[in-house]
Amino acid sequence: MNILHISAECYPIAKVGGLGDVVGALPKYQNIAGHQSAVIVPLHRSAFLQTQEWDIVHTGQFLMDRQTLQFSIIKERKNILGFELYSVNISGLLDRENIYGYEDDSFRFIAFQLAVVNWINTWMYHPDIIHVHDHHAALIPFFIKYCPEFHEISKIKTVLTIHNAQYQGWMEMYFSIFFPKWDEWKTGLIEWHHQINSLACGIRCADKITTVSPSYLKEILHTANGLETLIQSELYKCKGILNGIDFETWNPETDNHLYKKYKINNVKAGKYLNKEFICRAFNMNVNLPLFIFIGRLVYEKAADIIPQALDQFYENNGCKFNFLLLGSGDQKIEELCKVLKNKWPNNFHSIIQYNEQLSHQMYAGADFMLMPSRIEPCGLNQMYALRYGTVPIVRRTGGLSDTVIDIGDGGIGICFDQPTTEDIIQSINRALNLYQNQESLFQTSKSMMTINNSWEKSTIEYIELYKSTIK
Ligand code: GLC
Repeated sequence: MNILHISAECYPIAKVGGLGDVVGALPKYQNIAGHQSAVIVPLHRSAFLQTQEWDIVHTGQFLMDRQTLQFSIIKERKNILGFELYSVNISGLLDRENIYGYEDDSFRFIAFQLAVVNWINTWMYHPDIIHVHDHHAALIPFFIKYCPEFHEISKIKTVLTIHNAQYQGWMEMYFSIFFPKWDEWKTGLIEWHHQINSLACGIRCADKITTVSPSYLKEILHTANGLETLIQSELYKCKGILNGIDFETWNPETDNHLYKKYKINNVKAGKYLNKEFICRAFNMNVNLPLFIFIGRLVYEKAADIIPQALDQFYENNGCKFNFLLLGSGDQKIEELCKVLKNKWPNNFHSIIQYNEQLSHQMYAGADFMLMPSRIEPCGLNQMYALRYGTVPIVRRTGGLSDTVIDIGDGGIGICFDQPTTEDIIQSINRALNLYQNQESLFQTSKSMMTINNSWEKSTIEYIELYKSTIK
């Protein structure tokens, strides 16, 4: 089967969060399973772009209102990621420092999507499946189905994966002047509450919808940032497929980012050496339990309550553990972290940045990893933690409830129900108790490391879904 993934992110060429990890791994596993899976992303000035060799494989142009946009498609020459990787450039519009965050993002992402469909439209052989990810690519099913210009490709089946329904790609209605001519009877498909809503449009127009975990699909029937009723009415074509993780990139036995590689049978010694390394780097006492948080510092991840919970704990119970936090995002939360760091300099350290290598080292060196998310469609970090033998402490929501079972229920993690300081503190206390018994903690680490969260199983589910779509 021929599959083309269209996404704003794909690790390592473009990554802000988990979307990048998924699109950087699933196609590789689809290829291993015997299919031809490729990815196209918008170009931005990443290190990967600069260090690899690229060929220009297509140039073209299209009209947005009265402006003609020239675009080119480049392809990474050696398929070093295990799949064909393409990138779209539109000079001045896409070739910037960051993937998102510009005032003209709406215009940029319409242009990206139009360049992609114009390109596919010129192909002699069409893909069997166009798989679009999140709102940045969610207008594509509409364009190919209802713009006469793309009639040739209108029969290609489309799948939309919702990685996060909070972000929907809203635009004022007048942005539709940038769309190619479409069948005006279909205008209702692009509109939701008097705005263009890209995600809503994708949900209506794609042949199949997936969410990144089964629990998240159940959740968005009731909380989807305004799209609940739409999801209820389109439920017949929705399916929750749990993300996997790239078992090659995330493997403590072969991970070159680590200070010391380790495997199940030397996990105790291996993790200790990595813990020593990371504690030395941040001037922390290696004999205390080490907790970590890695992720975007945003409300959704409940990163705002972490500093509060830690402060409360340290004040009332003393500094019984160390905490390392890695991530960036909301300035207010970054500020809260700095304040906490000044108050408890020996026990709390925040690294306000995105740092892939450090994140690997933290999974390897930590005893516990906290994820108190308010919303977590899937979450990959808990799976990385399991792979590295680090106990996940998670709030039961979305994909976290699908992947972590509480130790009290025969599982391997610590789970709690509310994203509150009380629940976090209670869970930290449970973790500290667990830490008392080092032998049983390392038995738990060993069991965690045997869990197979690789993409293989979900790859099969996706292929079955594609097949049922084509039928
Ligand atoms: C989004 C979600 C996250 C998910 C990731 C990959 O970032 O917030 O929960 O794991 O996409 O699907």
